[in-house]
Amino acid sequence: MNASHSTADVAVIGLGRVGLPLALSFADRGLEVVGIDNDQVRLSAVRDGVMPFEETGAQALLDRVIAGGDGSSFGGASVDASSQRGRLSLSERVADAARARHIVITLGTPSFSHIEIDMRDIRSALDDLLGVLAPGHSLILRSTVAPGTTEFVAGYLAKHRGFQIGEEVFVAHAPERIAAGRFLEEIDSLPCIIGGVGARSGEVVGELFSSFEAPIVQTTPVQAELAKIWANILRYANFALPNLLMMDCERYAANVFEVIDLINRDYPRGGIAQPGFTAGTCLRKDFAFSEERSAAPGMLLAVSRVNESVPLFLLEGAKRRLGSLANRKVAVLGLAFKADTDDERDSLSHKLIRLLERELADVAVHDPHVATPTVPFEEALDGAEVVFVASNHSEFRDQATLAAIAEHAANDCLVVDPWNCWGAAQVFAYASELGALRPTHPARG
Ligand SMILES: NC(=O)c1ccc[n+]([C@@H]2O[C@H](COP(=O)([O-])OP(=O)(O)OC[C@H]3O[C@@H](n4cnc5c(N)ncnc54)[C@H](O)[C@@H]3O)[C@@H](O)[C@H]2O)c1
Repeated sequence: MNASHSTADVAVIGLGRVGLPLALSFADRGLEVVGIDNDQVRLSAVRDGVMPFEETGAQALLDRVIAGGDGSSFGGASVDASSQRGRLSLSERVADAARARHIVITLGTPSFSHIEIDMRDIRSALDDLLGVLAPGHSLILRSTVAPGTTEFVAGYLAKHRGFQIGEEVFVAHAPERIAAGRFLEEIDSLPCIIGGVGARSGEVVGELFSSFEAPIVQTTPVQAELAKIWANILRYANFALPNLLMMDCERYAANVFEVIDLINRDYPRGGIAQPGFTAGTCLRKDFAFSEERSAAPGMLLAVSRVNESVPLFLLEGAKRRLGSLANRKVAVLGLAFKADTDDERDSLSHKLIRLLERELADVAVHDPHVATPTVPFEEALDGAEVVFVASNHSEFRDQATLAAIAEHAANDCLVVDPWNCWGAAQVFAYASELGALRPTHPARG
């Protein structure tokens, strides 16, 4: 068998928040795509033409890609023949990826609590592929991985199958750098970094990604890995600074938003970010891939600790003002890890709720986006003595939210808003102080 006999152009293994929009985008550019996932519920949703999560524009893309097809599983491909678009076939078997010339891995890469990448999903997929890979195939790691992983994958294939990597079989890292909610816009604009192993992997994988409009930047595998991880570290550390400043300001009875304004106003070397809940499945774990072999062990752990301590800081701030929270109604607005997404993975809102429950508070949660059931907005606010704005969703950033707090929450309840949703410029404020304010600040996305 040789990959030149392939019946599909590209296989995407792992139809998650990265893999599914990518598979749909390849199909929309006319490529024959095999989408693979071991989650039957997810496969059924896609087969039925239903996006399993929010991603701007992806539902319309899915409609287009499956339009005209029977939406069935592998062997019963979905086709839009009228527009000559590509096909999206679905399978739960990783080995079916060998039907395609290019195999893109978009599996999850969490970190162990040992400060080490958890590569079990990638190792399992590699083992499933070992027996079916053939000369001509390219294997692309799109997942975020620790430095050295792409060379490990190449070495694993060479060791177990004897392939000449970069000449017979091609291996590259092409990191996903797109932000959730912006996939379809950024796939055509963000430079696509490709770190290929050996002589020709970069060039071969570059051909695949030239399906999109974005410029392609060739580099080495480890540089591609470092660039991806350190872009996330930069963001994670960038938000730790205002979060730490917020805690310092509380200690000195200073106003963090006023200090930030003093730092940034007309100052060419300013630029500190705004405080908030900084987490999510990527930011919260990617630093660990660097930290596992860091030249300065502990520095990034400290960054993580700052961001992870924001929920406790806010809870303790509420207690300093109100006393015990036991048996008091507390409303938490937002479960998602950031604004306007339904992604709750590694959200600090969950941590805040766990901490509040340990205070014996009566917690009511509302989030208009997430799949986890939450109570309606007014019901969450009803009689609340404290309102925490945990996610800065657009729905919360308007005067109607303030009016609802005034109407439904307890008389002069405490509002805890590290995002400065309404331009009140106070992390802790009583509802009476917020009522007259009009929104002035765009909140951080
Ligand atoms: N979500 C983001 O915004 C984002 C952005 C940039 C990079 N990344 C990186 O991309 C990678 C994927 O992230 P994600 O958020 O899409 O993850 P995800 O958990 O949403 O998707 C992973 C998918 O793989 C499937 N899967 C797991 N094991 C499998 C197996 N053995 N065989 C077949 N399918 C299997 C799961 O069912 C799931 O659908 C991670 O490395 C992540 O760090 C994510």
